Amino acid sequence: MPTTNFIKESLESISLETLNGTNFNRNDFARKIINYPAMMVPSVQESIIKNLISSLPKNASMIDPFMGASSTLVTSMKYGINVSGQDINPLSILISQVKTNIYTDNIIEQFNALLASVSRSWSIMPEVQFKNIDKWFKKDVQIELSQISRAIKRSDDLFFRKFCWVTLAEVIRLTSNDRTSTFKMHVRPIDEINRRAQSPLHYFEKIGKRSINDLLNLKSVLTEKKLIKNDSYTREIEVKWGDSKKGLVTERNHNLLVTSPPYGDNHTTVTYGQFSYLPLQWIPENDIDNTIDFDYLSVIQSIDSNSLGGKKATNYSEIEEKLFSKSKTLKSFFNKLTKDEKIKAKKVVVFLNDLDITIDNSLNKLTNEAYLVWTVGNRNVNNREVQNDKILRELMDSKGVNHVTDLKRDILAKRMPEKNNFSSTMNKEKILIFKMG
Ligand SMILES: C[S@@+](CC[C@H](N)C(=O)[O-])C[C@H]1O[C@@H](n2cnc3c(N)ncnc32)[C@H](O)[C@@H]1O
Repeated sequence: MPTTNFIKESLESISLETLNGTNFNRNDFARKIINYPAMMVPSVQESIIKNLISSLPKNASMIDPFMGASSTLVTSMKYGINVSGQDINPLSILISQVKTNIYTDNIIEQFNALLASVSRSWSIMPEVQFKNIDKWFKKDVQIELSQISRAIKRSDDLFFRKFCWVTLAEVIRLTSNDRTSTFKMHVRPIDEINRRAQSPLHYFEKIGKRSINDLLNLKSVLTEKKLIKNDSYTREIEVKWGDSKKGLVTERNHNLLVTSPPYGDNHTTVTYGQFSYLPLQWIPENDIDNTIDFDYLSVIQSIDSNSLGGKKATNYSEIEEKLFSKSKTLKSFFNKLTKDEKIKAKKVVVFLNDLDITIDNSLNKLTNEAYLVWTVGNRNVNNREVQNDKILRELMDSKGVNHVTDLKRDILAKRMPEKNNFSSTMNKEKILIFKMG
């Protein structure tokens, strides 16, 4: 097994061009199947996993406690690793189930048959009803989405339906009255809505066909590497719904953790929940996962409030004391703030406390020799930079986890919000690599 020093040197020799993902292919790893916020660039993760693989045991297993669109799982599958992912957002679960599933060529005929059946539809009955539906969808768009939705429900193949729901989710993102330029829900101006003529069926066909192609390409890469037998991945796949701060649902211990956590509470950074709210209105919960235990559609903010740092703490002073003792960077950030600024910055402490708990939950599921790869970025609060990278390093240090190295990258190909609450170093990300034991 290579020494940690050898691993450190080989990681540090990865070129900046590779880390920046300058030449990455947007269709690679079925990335375009849906435009989930802040997706990682697979080629960046791949360069790191490739360097770590020689130090992992034969039947190695990886976990991502903030799975998002499962880029880390799919990348790890290319290396024959058992993969596990968890996320609190039901849409992330659905996307990940589809991306890690191995579809047969039969999906092409199934999809064509479904398109034909939608084009024969005549019913104008709405398939879903929710508060303000007319604000978010034009009537003609609602009718076509309903026709597609009914056709999907008629299929008795659950994984085909899951594929169609993910496709529909991307169609909804493009055809609703919600602006695509932000992750927060913002309705377009009325004259713009009136001018737009969008056909959901047209998008559904185009996106569905492209996604099938991408998924089958991914399958052929895995087949070439002899990782597919009888149309399934030869190793284990776990895609679990769950709140990582409450615990990791995985049934295994893992030799590798690769993740990119949120940069702060969703409300003031990336609103993954708001991004998912409209698509999830159209997708039956039973077709996603029957272990989801909260009403994620009760209000627009429901998923974001249940995500890391989304709730107010009742024992705030205790949390503050605990975290300041672990991170001197966080403590000195706070000490520089005025009384009013401190109130606003409380959410940083609450978020980092949730992160700290999630780290403990993750460490419980790792083997003694495991490697951890964390991609983090910094954010602003009160126009001051919260140095998530330094803080994470100090938190890990307080738990006796060894730092191996840091790699820096420019964010060129990641879909992030342009302004609000992000620091000037926001266009940079750090990849921190640690080792247990
Ligand atoms: C930066 S994204 C992950 C991106 C992912 N690596 C990719 O390439 O698509 C962060 C994810 O953390 C999830 N998340 C936030 N709070 C969570 C929690 N308490 N438990 C589990 N997942 C959570 C969000 O729903 C989001 O999908």
